[in-house]
Amino acid sequence: MAPNPLTSEPGTGTRTTADPKILSLIRDEPTRFRLHSAVYTNQHIFDKEISRIFERSWIFVAHEEMVHQPGDYVTTNLGKQPVIVSRDEDGDISVLFNRCAHRGSVVCREERGHANVFRCPYHGWVFGNNGHLVGVAQRSGYPDDFFDWGLRLEPIPRVETYRGLVFANLDPTAPPLSDRLSSVRRYIDLWCDRSPEGRLRLPEGVHRYEFPANWKLQAENGVDGYHGNYVHESFVNILERSGERGAGSTTKTRNTLGSRNFAKGMPHGDGLLEREEGMLGTFDYRGHKDYCERLEASYGPDRADDIMMQRNIFIFPNLFLFESHIRVIHPVSPNTSYIDVHPTYLEGAGDETNEERLSEHERFFGPSGFGAPDDIEIFVCTQTGAAASSNPWLEFSRGMHREALNELGEVVGHSTDEVPQRSLYREWLRLMSEGERLEENGL
Ligand code: FES
Ligand SMILES: [Fe+2]
Repeated sequence: MAPNPLTSEPGTGTRTTADPKILSLIRDEPTRFRLHSAVYTNQHIFDKEISRIFERSWIFVAHEEMVHQPGDYVTTNLGKQPVIVSRDEDGDISVLFNRCAHRGSVVCREERGHANVFRCPYHGWVFGNNGHLVGVAQRSGYPDDFFDWGLRLEPIPRVETYRGLVFANLDPTAPPLSDRLSSVRRYIDLWCDRSPEGRLRLPEGVHRYEFPANWKLQAENGVDGYHGNYVHESFVNILERSGERGAGSTTKTRNTLGSRNFAKGMPHGDGLLEREEGMLGTFDYRGHKDYCERLEASYGPDRADDIMMQRNIFIFPNLFLFESHIRVIHPVSPNTSYIDVHPTYLEGAGDETNEERLSEHERFFGPSGFGAPDDIEIFVCTQTGAAASSNPWLEFSRGMHREALNELGEVVGHSTDEVPQRSLYREWLRLMSEGERLEENGL
């Protein structure tokens, strides 16, 4: 039986809280890549992921359009820390700890809304939506200089925005966001430029769902081009039986080498699934003449063609830019996660295109869609299987023997290869190891 890296004892499947030997959780060999299944199940590893990854990295917190008007706000988490993203009367966006300066209650309990001030539910202190303390209940209980104490909703140390995507970082010493996004930026641009005006609109509301499995299963799956023919077989059959797609065409497209079907791994753990056609749940832009003309008028034919490639973009550790929507992963515990799905409209694409695109999104990704529920079922299957005490090693080796480095520094494989997943776990290992070193040095 394979040794259990958590105990250095022969594997018994026993989960332990002993400090894991992080480096031994991944076996990265020339043509074989394996991951220990404890990364899905172990509480200690999960706690370290929160402190070493989610509380030290650039984390997506909102799209600017989620707080479109002054006074709009949304709440979310950075790791386990509650935060508010709000737009003040000057139009500036603040990202604030959702923690009262008095005795620590959250001041905002809603997921989103509109407010000029946040009133703490405990003793009624009032903070402006830029975080400043503007009022305190029963003021005479404090001395005259009370408002000089600097009490406020504290801002997150680092906040930066790219193409409307707002990222925050709890590490004040982190390199700038532009460094972090340097490799994936061109794909963010292509994604935003699906709008002929280069701007997105987000309808009010979010589709949120929780599942009893580890957060990384969603991270792996969103750029997994291998599973579609199997997990989504029933949907493929419906498309082919209805004549919407030719018999066998979806499977053939997926499996054809040499066409524009790629899986890519990038620095910083980012990944990409890219196809010319055949991606399930994806709007057929090329079949909409009016949209194509608008896009070509804005960007020219070559870039328009590149924009219309079908892409799922993973930005480590918690953000997906899917073709139709923004998808955000929230880890809760080793075996509990939830997802926020924010559908997008493309400014300048025309109402008909936007409505058909949203319908296609709903058909596959919606609450009663044909696709997303199947994926969740597989997350649960994998989480359940990970508890078995057999050989704990998971295989992420597909296509490793045929991947190549391109001129952009991307590792490129066929779209069914596990290239993005290897990229994800190499970055995971780097941050988990780096975090361990910083902790040892008291940082
Ligand atoms: S904890 Fe917020 S007013 Fe007391
Ligand atoms: Fe899927």
